[in-house]
Amino acid sequence: MKALVLAGGSGTRLRPITHTSAKQLVPVANKPVLFYGLEAIAAAGIREIGMVVGDTQAEIEAAVGDGTAFGLEVTYLRQRAPLGLAHAVLIARDYLGGDDFVMYLGDNFIVGGIDDLVERFARDRPAAQIMLTRVGDPRQFGVAELDARGRVIRLEEKPRVPKSDLALVGVYLFTPEVHEAVAELKPSWRGELEITDAIQWLIEDGRRVESSVISGYWKDTGDVTDMLEVNRLVLESVEPRLDGRVDGASELIGRVVVEPGAAVERSRIVGPAIIGAGARILDSYVGPFTSIAAGCTVSGSEIEYSIVLPRSSISGVSRIEASLIGHDVEVTPAPATPRAHRLVLGDHSKVQISS
Ligand code: TTP
Repeated sequence: MKALVLAGGSGTRLRPITHTSAKQLVPVANKPVLFYGLEAIAAAGIREIGMVVGDTQAEIEAAVGDGTAFGLEVTYLRQRAPLGLAHAVLIARDYLGGDDFVMYLGDNFIVGGIDDLVERFARDRPAAQIMLTRVGDPRQFGVAELDARGRVIRLEEKPRVPKSDLALVGVYLFTPEVHEAVAELKPSWRGELEITDAIQWLIEDGRRVESSVISGYWKDTGDVTDMLEVNRLVLESVEPRLDGRVDGASELIGRVVVEPGAAVERSRIVGPAIIGAGARILDSYVGPFTSIAAGCTVSGSEIEYSIVLPRSSISGVSRIEASLIGHDVEVTPAPATPRAHRLVLGDHSKVQISS
């Protein structure tokens, strides 16, 4: 059995972070979200991974390498444009050969691993096995309709009137039968080859499509709110660790991780929070559910419920919350009474200004 991990895509919902970096590498508790998926795949006993990549190939390759660090053998499969999840299966056809495979969306976060699913699939070998979870508003997901025995009878992408509250989770298991379906697909109205259409094709062709409803936590980390929420969840269970330096005038409360080489001076950190390697926290307050990545500096500032990517600096800012701050960013206060706002913003930025 192989795995097909999707780490391409355009990541429009996470702009402007995704203008310059891959969304699958946005850190959750200072570890790229993609790594949690790779660990779950390795834990399920799978070794060979086809990693579908797009424009951010170089960055993903630099982070994952040949997979040895995860106990995996990674082969990179270049997708020339994000033409859909089923398009990723199409370009991976030769790599996958006659093997069964699990398809894993590289920006999805699942608690509890995939061992049970993989085991059940290997035993029953339906043409496709999908994972479902109950959601509050199914209209923004792929939604499944099941018969009395739990077999999938219909899938619908973002339905206006959902037939159930069961949304598709980003882990799918397939036998090579799926290639027959993918070969028949036509692009949808949004110009993509949809995996839901491939699975619907299998159902209509009389193939067996099974589902399991997961009870554990799942999130598609497609936007900032979801990223912050997953970060919160992961930080809640980190083991406190002090490998850096904390001076006598500082206070650490609750679950706090201070990585090697980090320095905390005259500051208060209320966990759960993580301070990355080599970061400096000076005269500041770092509140719950905050991940400060390696090499950052926070001085004379207050920040909570936020993710800060490597090498950024925040100085003299009285309160930052619910924020996602990219690599090498500088945040400083504006002059006391600005007559006008001076902005240098990348394309598609979103800025909230109180004036
Ligand atoms: P999505 O989140 O559905 O798509 P996207 O990355 O284009 O994001 P947005 O909607 O914000 O523009 O993709 C799910 C995962 O699959 C994600 O890790 C990206 C990856 N992907 C590919 O590798 N190839 C593709 O053609 C598509 C559509 C997604």
